[in-house]
Amino acid sequence: MPDSQEHLKNDPLWFKDAIIYEVPVRAFADSNCDGIGDFQGLTEKLDYVKDLGITAIWILPFFPSPLRDDGYDIGDYKNVNHIYGDLDDFQEFLDGAHERGIRVIIELVVNHTSDQHPWFKRARKAPKGSKERDFYVWSDTPEKYPEVRIIFQDFENSNWAWDPVAKAYYWHRFYSHQPDLNYENPAVWEAVFDVADFWFSKGVDGMRLDAVPYLCVKEGTNCENLPETHAFLKQLRAYIDAKYPNRMLLAEANQWPEDAANYYGNGDECHMNFHFPLMPRLFMSLRMEDSFPIADILNQTPLIPDNCQWALFLRNHDELTLEMVSDEDRDYMYRVYAQDTQARLNLGIRRRLSTLLGNDRGQVELLSSLLLSLPGTPVIYYGDEIGMGDNIYLGDRNGVRTPMQWSGDRNAGFSRANPQKLYAPVIVDPEYHYEAINVEAQQGNTNSLLWWTKRLIATRQRFQAFGRGTFELLHPDNHKVLAFTRTYNGEHILVVANLSRFVQTVELDLSAFAGMVPVEIFGRSQFRKSPMGFTFSASVPTLSIGLCCNSSKQWLKCCNPNDRNRN
Ligand code: GLC
Ligand code: CA
Repeated sequence: MPDSQEHLKNDPLWFKDAIIYEVPVRAFADSNCDGIGDFQGLTEKLDYVKDLGITAIWILPFFPSPLRDDGYDIGDYKNVNHIYGDLDDFQEFLDGAHERGIRVIIELVVNHTSDQHPWFKRARKAPKGSKERDFYVWSDTPEKYPEVRIIFQDFENSNWAWDPVAKAYYWHRFYSHQPDLNYENPAVWEAVFDVADFWFSKGVDGMRLDAVPYLCVKEGTNCENLPETHAFLKQLRAYIDAKYPNRMLLAEANQWPEDAANYYGNGDECHMNFHFPLMPRLFMSLRMEDSFPIADILNQTPLIPDNCQWALFLRNHDELTLEMVSDEDRDYMYRVYAQDTQARLNLGIRRRLSTLLGNDRGQVELLSSLLLSLPGTPVIYYGDEIGMGDNIYLGDRNGVRTPMQWSGDRNAGFSRANPQKLYAPVIVDPEYHYEAINVEAQQGNTNSLLWWTKRLIATRQRFQAFGRGTFELLHPDNHKVLAFTRTYNGEHILVVANLSRFVQTVELDLSAFAGMVPVEIFGRSQFRKSPMGFTFSASVPTLSIGLCCNSSKQWLKCCNPNDRNRN
């Protein structure tokens, strides 16, 4: 085990209790005034991350790259892009995180490389049928695999691109400058294991497997979720388990629940996978004031192996994807969340959490509370903890990747560079201007969203049931209320979310908890029993979580009234 890992708890299931924070290195903090965030800047901000309650940082690709897809177009897997620093800076960041008990998750982008990667440059020139050429997927016609969808619909009209050097078409699921690797070639497997070795032996704790459903291709299929892809993942997992303790693989498999759950295998593929279908349904339920979309998708979600965990998220560095919803639901989402067509991109919406929710603090709190209480591990997107805005005029997904807002100073305290030199302009929208929305201002006000988020995270961390507990939906008659319980080691948590703008009353069948008295988690007040069982009046003015009698957001824990120590 690398020295730097000594500071971490020896627990292979650490990811179940984690709070993950997603950060593009470029956007967080610029240490050398060149207008671009870097590793030294990120390391300097680790205390902030720790103070927020984060236990794992997921950093976006930082490798040498032409940056035509923000680094998801990799030119060298075993180095650091010089604009972010060097390998020593990376190690310092990793050690600094570990010293603070924070784990680090990096990206393993191995569906494709940049067309500038030496493997591709070599492949184009290599003879047909050679091992070098076959690092990628070639064809004489662009007609092969016609069943396969196009992901970047606004930019590409085919998954094949002509290469004049190779005099053949090559396969790409994303941008045409990102040729897909060929998983039929054992040399590719070896190369990928080698990359995993490089970073795991430095001490990284986890890897997000970018675009993992598309690794293998096969005639007559849609080339997604193929058994061959799962076979590769099982090998990768076995390889890593044998060499590195307490590491985690996080799949990015944007698929329907059934297919997504397959990335856990029998507990022998990925440890985690993002719950893509749940994400848009959280937004739908909120706007429809109806628990059905959330309840329905959770009911469709298979049980997963004990050693696995869903990664839950509200927003990330991409557009809010609407691939895993019906056409009708997509229309609805566009109508209610992206009236302005400029906010739409590919099959999704390029907005941040606060802007999607019209800057409504109550709604932000409600969705964040669900993020932290539904079954899974929450992934928070940098800046959403202070309610940062976005800029839909920046092109592609750049509008949700703007500099972190640290203070009201020049460049939002992100960089001392000439403002014109910044890799992207800071947010100056009147409603979300960095002079008002920034860390420093919010640190100074305990009513701020930042403080609220800190308290929410701290509260979650007091109860392991959120990360590890069972999940049981309750079925109240009032569908404007979502209610569920989480149980772990005899500890019961009841979560009640009022999805409506208006006060709701709801009756919950808590007969399973007979003899117990609910104690509200944040304020620790006990609820009284009525002759009918527990009849709660939820009287919250806006959208909130908990059995609400005022404007505070609440989670409830049921415990034995005689047991005073249990809250
Ligand atoms: C993943 C990333 C996205 C990237 C794409 C291609 O979906 O999240 O940002 O553009 O893969 O690598
Ligand atoms: Ca810099």
